[in-house]
Amino acid sequence: MDSVPPKLLLGDLELPSNVLCAPLAGCSDLPFRKMTAKYRPGLVYCEMVKMDALVRHDPHTYRLLDYSSSMHPIGAQLCGSKPKLASICGKIIEDMGFDVVDLNCGCPVDKVTKDGSGSGLLKTPHLIGEIIANLVASVKIPVTVKIRAGWDFQSINAPEIAKIAELAGAKAICIHGRTRSQGYKGPANWEFIRQCKQATKTIKIIANGDVNCADSAKRAMDITGCDAVLVARATMGRPWVIEDIHRSLMGLAPIQRTADDFKNAFFEHIEHILSYQNPRRALLDIRRVGCWYLRLGKGTKALREGINRSRELSDALQIIKAYDWQNADFAVSSEDADITCESEGC
Ligand SMILES: Cc1cc2nc3c(=O)[nH]c(=O)nc-3n(C[C@H](O)[C@H](O)[C@H](O)COP(=O)(O)O)c2cc1C
Repeated sequence: MDSVPPKLLLGDLELPSNVLCAPLAGCSDLPFRKMTAKYRPGLVYCEMVKMDALVRHDPHTYRLLDYSSSMHPIGAQLCGSKPKLASICGKIIEDMGFDVVDLNCGCPVDKVTKDGSGSGLLKTPHLIGEIIANLVASVKIPVTVKIRAGWDFQSINAPEIAKIAELAGAKAICIHGRTRSQGYKGPANWEFIRQCKQATKTIKIIANGDVNCADSAKRAMDITGCDAVLVARATMGRPWVIEDIHRSLMGLAPIQRTADDFKNAFFEHIEHILSYQNPRRALLDIRRVGCWYLRLGKGTKALREGINRSRELSDALQIIKAYDWQNADFAVSSEDADITCESEGC
């Protein structure tokens, strides 16, 4: 492999790393991003927000965009298919202090695609161009776009969309190597990402899908010739995976992650949740992130079940504190840790 630039330039914005942290609806909330931002990703994306809800000033939508100064550089992701709305939303995002604004063209959920948004936009590439052009005209921050390989295997059009995005002024395009019809199942096809790199000149190509450890990141870069990688499900329960990949790309020695690291990260994540959510919501969130951290531990099934059975937040916290953490055994080798979460979202 040729030497890998450890940074990524998006227009005038220099990102500290070319390993980026993906938007994950229902997961990459403020507590999650506090955990991942510590490991210095090139960019951390918030969960997608709907353009209509943003202009309506829906409080829930604005809460999805909460961030702290330690999270810079940070990107917001817009979901919608109306070019005029995109201009207004781009400005809102820029005024909120975000470093990057991204357009979601990958969400496979029916209720999103039915009005032509998310991966529905893959069926109207010209509209993607129009939305990007409007965003670019309305903001000074870099505009990026995240797509899938195509709607299905019969209609792979990522290279065509990459060219359109480049022409419209996007600074980077992230290609999730699965089609919309694949959802999150089956392997990501990096060949389609390679074709995007070959079809374009200046736009930065970000590879996504099945990049979950240093080895897979290196293979993705070798095969696609991409400028950066975006890591999604592998960050769940392993917030340091971003740092592990970046260190490896820079030729630095790996950091051995220990069972204590898993325990400490889980506890820290819980603290962030407790200071951000009400008790009812905190219980639900602790169940969810507990599954991420604990699925990598041997003999943690009873603990997981105990947390899931808890009706009160205080019960769950009591069970977690009482667990025999001294003797906990977590998968820490890169192969063992190469387990992606089965969470399926948007
Ligand atoms: C729970 C979940 C939520 C997601 N939410 C978003 C989102 O808000 N915006 C987006 O562009 N992609 C979203 N994705 C897709 C991921 O960013 C990523 O493209 C996909 O998981 C493939 O990468 P992976 O194989 O590394 O997991 C989501 C995926 C999951 C599993």
